[in-house]
Amino acid sequence: MCGIIGYVGNRPAQDILLSGLKRLEYRGYDSSGISVIHSEKNKISTRKSPGKIAVLESSLKKKPLSGIIGIAHSRWATHGAPTQANAHPHQDCKGGIAIVHNGIIENYASLKSSLIKEGHRFKSQTDTEVIVHLIEKFYKRIPLEEAVRKTLRLLDGSFALGVISSREPDKLIGARLGSPLIVGVGKGENFLASDVPAVLDSTKEVVFLEENELAVLTKDSLKITDLNGRPISRNSVRITWDIAHAEMQGYKHFMLKEINEQPGIIENILKMRIGPEAQVILEELEIPQAVFKKIKNISVVACGTAYHAGLVGKYILEEICKVPVNVDVSSEFRYRGLLIGQDTLVIAVSQSGETADTLAGVKEARKRGAPVLSICNVLGSSLTRESDGVIYTYAGPEIGVASTKAYTAQLAAFYLLAFYLAELKGVLSREKIASLLCELKKIPKAQEEILKNQAAIATLAKRHSHLGSFLYLGRHINYPSALEGALKLKEISYIPAEGYAAGEMKHGPIALIDEYRAVVCINPYSHVYEKMVSNIQEIRARRGKIIAIASFGDEKLKEQIKEVIYIPGCPEIFSPLLTVLPLQLIAYHIAVKRGCDVDQPRNLAKSVTVE
Ligand code: AGP
Repeated sequence: MCGIIGYVGNRPAQDILLSGLKRLEYRGYDSSGISVIHSEKNKISTRKSPGKIAVLESSLKKKPLSGIIGIAHSRWATHGAPTQANAHPHQDCKGGIAIVHNGIIENYASLKSSLIKEGHRFKSQTDTEVIVHLIEKFYKRIPLEEAVRKTLRLLDGSFALGVISSREPDKLIGARLGSPLIVGVGKGENFLASDVPAVLDSTKEVVFLEENELAVLTKDSLKITDLNGRPISRNSVRITWDIAHAEMQGYKHFMLKEINEQPGIIENILKMRIGPEAQVILEELEIPQAVFKKIKNISVVACGTAYHAGLVGKYILEEICKVPVNVDVSSEFRYRGLLIGQDTLVIAVSQSGETADTLAGVKEARKRGAPVLSICNVLGSSLTRESDGVIYTYAGPEIGVASTKAYTAQLAAFYLLAFYLAELKGVLSREKIASLLCELKKIPKAQEEILKNQAAIATLAKRHSHLGSFLYLGRHINYPSALEGALKLKEISYIPAEGYAAGEMKHGPIALIDEYRAVVCINPYSHVYEKMVSNIQEIRARRGKIIAIASFGDEKLKEQIKEVIYIPGCPEIFSPLLTVLPLQLIAYHIAVKRGCDVDQPRNLAKSVTVE
């Protein structure tokens, strides 16, 4: 996934583009570049560099680019290594057009070979470069926006584009299919960006472009059409959160800030969504109750951490709603022979709402007539537009690549959805729901309790940061917590880690146990507590280094294990909202101790908008 930003207005473009790019750095950061049209000379000047945006910034400090219209890009490489030549923006043979692109052009090879035969000279190995040469080819006889539309109709794949040309130096063109693109509407200036944080310093008025739409921006105008040139009218949306939410606010990393935001976020969600008579309020749901009543089974589709939230959702929905739930990773769901139809509710879980495999899975589900509900954190994202109904998680922008606050907000959405459906289906009375919601409302305080113990958790984590691998074990509703704990650790510290159902230990993983491996055992009081205690004894007998997550007051474990992180007691069904916090902190502090780039771990991006 890459970050795009464009500017047209009266102010110097360079610094506006750079600061917007920095707010998009979580989307991709292996190289970056900028193109600006010089006001007097009417020529495009371009600067590109491999590495982080800071490298580009220092080069521009030495030799700035001047102009009031430009585009910029931070890259997550798909085709071609992160080199200067492959960095965006890319230009045509004569350098009169520049473009930035997020997505994948699947038919680029055939397009490239015919363009080369026609005499176009390519400078990069990217798929993107074919786009600018096609525009050049068509631009000879028609205006820029027409040339862009004609080009886009030839492309297979996905794109979010920004285009400028020295022949029409007052125009900035944007277009999208399969990758997000927004327009920031300012006063005497307009913006293009992949995501909202990039424009919030200048405007809170945003227009979300939809699929197959093209926008033509000047400093005072915005025109949106489809790819055949038909005009489209679209109101702007006022963004309610401010850039401070996307800022670090004194924390060392976005991830640590977002871990600590969780109690407040859960509290807000519960305040917003639980009415005075303990009714669950899901006002943006928009799926008629009659549709829900017909549901005979549920199919959850998601990736990564969102998939783990879906696995917890399975336990929640089956226990509370008595409806069978299937959970798939999106990349499997979309290619499986799906046996779903109108009586299957498909729940797509995604923080970004832009994950390619999840979007594709939803498309497959809709083809089969299944109603689709998305649990999503980004207003107006592609997934929300592909769904029949949405439950927004309202976790605010999640900048750290490792998902934390979005995960617990997704869990909260599952609890609320389960109570909503249980009442609709007459499975649970309002009184019973009220008493469960009363317990759920205690969770933010309990999370605060855990976060008060961060220093001790950090010390414990650092004591194990030298170990070469970790095993995470959990049972029942905390089996997904084990998977999530392992993913957090591996993706930011690069230590091999795997999550396992503890009951599976004797079926293989026990062979791994020795004094060089840490085993994180998630064992709050529960109906499977004693089973976990036996697993812990088996690990102790093989000198495994155990870290236990246990309930306050659990003296039994204290006798057996030195390293115990205690969490407040709560009804078993809500425990994943608590057990995950120590797991997030263990991963964070080990990664910091190992000097890893916590917010922008290698090879990863915040949202995987390509397959
Ligand atoms: C989680 O920490 C990872 N960053 C990754 O697994 C992520 O959860 C996954 O890519 C899904 O992203 P989404 O929620 O935006 O769809």
